[in-house]
Amino acid sequence: MGYVRLGVNVDHVATLREARKSVAPDPVEAAFLAELAGADGITVHLRMDRRHIKERDLRLLRQTVKTRLNLEMAATEEMLSIALEVKPDQVTLVPERPGEVTTEGGLDVASSVDEIAKVVEKLKGAGIEVSIFVDPDTSQVKAAKEAGADAIEIHTGIYAAAKNKENELERIFEAARVARNLGLRVHAGHDLNYRNIIPVLKTPGLEEVNIGHAIIARAIYVGIERAVREMKEVINAYS
Ligand code: PXP
Repeated sequence: MGYVRLGVNVDHVATLREARKSVAPDPVEAAFLAELAGADGITVHLRMDRRHIKERDLRLLRQTVKTRLNLEMAATEEMLSIALEVKPDQVTLVPERPGEVTTEGGLDVASSVDEIAKVVEKLKGAGIEVSIFVDPDTSQVKAAKEAGADAIEIHTGIYAAAKNKENELERIFEAARVARNLGLRVHAGHDLNYRNIIPVLKTPGLEEVNIGHAIIARAIYVGIERAVREMKEVINAYS
């Protein structure tokens, strides 16, 4: 297996800050410490309602992140113009429903290939790599390719919640195989933790995982550096 990059999602550092509408804890500082601990990238989701990450965070992270900055965003005009200005290394297109607790599933690329393709083209024209967050569904993987994406991020949330994980794991593997055959790079994420990530690390051609909640939750007890280091150890041991 190849090297699997760990993107640390620091949204929930900002969630805690916003619980007090304060200045601490700062996701920019957390990102700095995560990188020191071995994170291969920093991921943030700038939501339309700005409930955790703010534009201020994104702009500062663009200046301070030394690894890779991955911006998760909805494919809207507003987000597109922010991305084209800030120029993260990578954009991951995600669906966004107002009021949702977290991203609820993959983007339905198949029903709006042309629309998504326009956004992808503009991002790629600015030198930004584009990944699309999709369910482990081969028709969505093919649609992501049609839309011009460089990569897909396979939604692992259904697998994480499933009682029968074998079936869900096989769907992830199959989506990955289809993606690789189409020349798409393969990422995975959502609801991964220190244990359930282990089988996912065997996904064919997996290059990147994006993990937020499990790492930030553990960081409350052991500190962010140790929480990131431990996840890196799991990834290195099982990929
Ligand atoms: N990948 C994507 C596309 C996401 O939307 C999220 C949540 O923001 C994550 C990964 C990280 O999920 P979690 O916080 O459950 O690790």
